[in-house]
Amino acid sequence: MEPLRSAEVDRLLFELTQPTGRADPYSYYEALRRTAPIARAEDGAIVLTRYADCHAVLHDPRFGRADPEKLFASIGLPSWKEFPALWTLNTSMLSVNPPQHTRLRRLVSKAFTARKVEQLRAPVAELVDTLLDQIDGGGDFVDTFAFPLPVAVIGELLGVPEADRAAFQPLVRDWTMVLDLFSPEVFARANQAAGQIRDYLADLAQQRRRNPQDDLISALASASDDGDQLSEDELVTMAALLFAAGFETTTHLLGNGLVALLASPDQASALRKDPELAPTAVEELLRFDSSVQLTGRTALADTKVAGVPIAKGARLVCYTGAANRDPQRFDDPNRLELARRDGAPLSFGGGIHYCLGAPLARLEAQLAFPALLTRYPNLQLSDGAQRRDSLTLRGYLHLPVNC
Ligand code: HEM
Repeated sequence: MEPLRSAEVDRLLFELTQPTGRADPYSYYEALRRTAPIARAEDGAIVLTRYADCHAVLHDPRFGRADPEKLFASIGLPSWKEFPALWTLNTSMLSVNPPQHTRLRRLVSKAFTARKVEQLRAPVAELVDTLLDQIDGGGDFVDTFAFPLPVAVIGELLGVPEADRAAFQPLVRDWTMVLDLFSPEVFARANQAAGQIRDYLADLAQQRRRNPQDDLISALASASDDGDQLSEDELVTMAALLFAAGFETTTHLLGNGLVALLASPDQASALRKDPELAPTAVEELLRFDSSVQLTGRTALADTKVAGVPIAKGARLVCYTGAANRDPQRFDDPNRLELARRDGAPLSFGGGIHYCLGAPLARLEAQLAFPALLTRYPNLQLSDGAQRRDSLTLRGYLHLPVNC
């Protein structure tokens, strides 16, 4: 058996990159899962849309990250190291295989601990309350709440001074556009942005080396594992990854989650009446409309997925957003059911790259949604919602609301 290549597969994958596909990718995912669950895209990549297949690939060490040298040589960009957007992404923990991945993850885990996250519970609850004041009378939910909350939390944790944080939003947005197919203009902006982020963080890291504070950058600068430490370049890359991964995705969880709740008033009302529902509610909102829709892997050896042979070097795209709606895994998957207990969506990935910030994102969302619904029981969307133009990261740039 071979991965299925057909005109219909090409059409569905193309539509997913178009505004209609981005607005509602789920019907396209369903068609792919039904007709070609292991499909071959026009560019040769193998596209997976079933939960079991995505889960298996993410947890199998025979699948990992592509060697950037080979990857960029194959697309005619051997000079990738000169581009800050590519350098930062491709040398970060997110993009490397063991043993380098194990080394970086171990060093950051010494500084970014569950205890550190739990200590944030009271300050985050307070911040949620303060930010909710800004929505009074209506406004843009992204600008007033969904962006400032995670950026303040990760900024505080890392040690980025408050006055400097807002400037990161457009920079991170521009940088992370390299996760999708990009035009030369978008690529130039991504590099400009990544360069600025690196310069800023290098400066901050130097200040913290000279004068350590109680923050993650200082802790990362001194984190050591059997005498091993992050180099200056690795420290800057790690801080950039944490800062970028720390808010864009969470901003989108808050925006997508609000839209999903408002579309299911019975569910919103259940959470308003019973805030204890928050932990399962957040898992369900993550499943229902995840801010990360896909992730890639490369076969590091000849292997198989669900009995289909996969050659060493093959690129795979795991549509985790599709896996999260797989009826073989979730009952009635297109229904939002906050009390659902058949959880474990793939929204935070799986295996060795499982999201490091998952406890932090959960904490923020579990405190935000019940507080939001209680404070503003009549909250509604107004006209003018605008989606981010990306398939990998799914969310809203603007989400006007009134209350
Ligand atoms: C709703 C919010 C979030 C979502 C949906 C999300 C999603 C993900 C996913 C899917 C991955 C794995 C990607 C892959 O396997 O290819 C990942 C990795 C990662 N995330 Fe998150 N994330 C979120 C929030 C955060 C936060 C708040 C932080 C930081 C504080 C963070 C830091 C990271 C890091 C450092 C990695 C790389 C881990 C590794 O490669 O070992 N994320 N995230």
